[in-house]
Amino acid sequence: MDDLPSRQRWIVHLWLILTVLVSLLTLLPHFSILVHIFFGLLFAGLVVAHLRHRRRTVSILLADLRRFGKWIKPRGRMAWADLLLLFVTINVVLSGFFDYFEHRPVMISTGLISPIRWHVVSSLVLLVLLTVHTLRRWRRLRTSQVR
Ligand code: HEM
Ligand code: HEM
Repeated sequence: MDDLPSRQRWIVHLWLILTVLVSLLTLLPHFSILVHIFFGLLFAGLVVAHLRHRRRTVSILLADLRRFGKWIKPRGRMAWADLLLLFVTINVVLSGFFDYFEHRPVMISTGLISPIRWHVVSSLVLLVLLTVHTLRRWRRLRTSQVR
């Protein structure tokens, strides 16, 4: 834990959690939506730092995604789970920008159920995925050695 890379990773993990919580808190009535956007974008920037901290793992996981035979192995499943997490994170940021510039919540029609609010639904999915992602790695939040 005392080495610098571990400490930097721990700080990023901590701020990842804080920015999600604060961006939700800023949805309370007396905050400007710009404060919400600020913390949402800070979260997105920290995700980039988080991935850069483990470039080696990311490239191994990307290689697993390209090999069909690996998909059912634990690491292959982790690669798919992380890809889904990234996809949903990108959706949250994109939908947030669309809502902001269109001055209204953008609706997505799935054809199955009534149209859904893109940003709200993607945010809720993100919160569920992040909770699972974080809880499963809880013991490594402070002591991550992964490169
Ligand atoms: C940590 C990531 C984020 C989460 C969990 C999140 C969650 C939410 C939720 C649940 C709402 C709905 C409030 C309501 O209508 O009751 C909302 C609203 C909004 N968010 Fe985010 N958000 C995030 C990031 C962002 C980002 C990065 C942007 C802009 C780029 C953004 C822009 C907006 C805007 C413009 C609204 C108001 C319009 C709407 O209801 O969609 N958000 N956010
Ligand atoms: C609240 C936000 C998040 C927290 C607290 C968090 C925390 C962690 C922790 C503790 C690890 C384990 C590090 C280790 O084993 O040493 C990890 C790994 C990882 N995280 Fe996150 N993370 C967050 C969000 C994300 C997001 C949005 C992505 C987007 C793809 C992501 C991608 C990864 C990847 C690729 C790994 C390495 C492989 C794995 O363990 O799945 N994380 N994260």
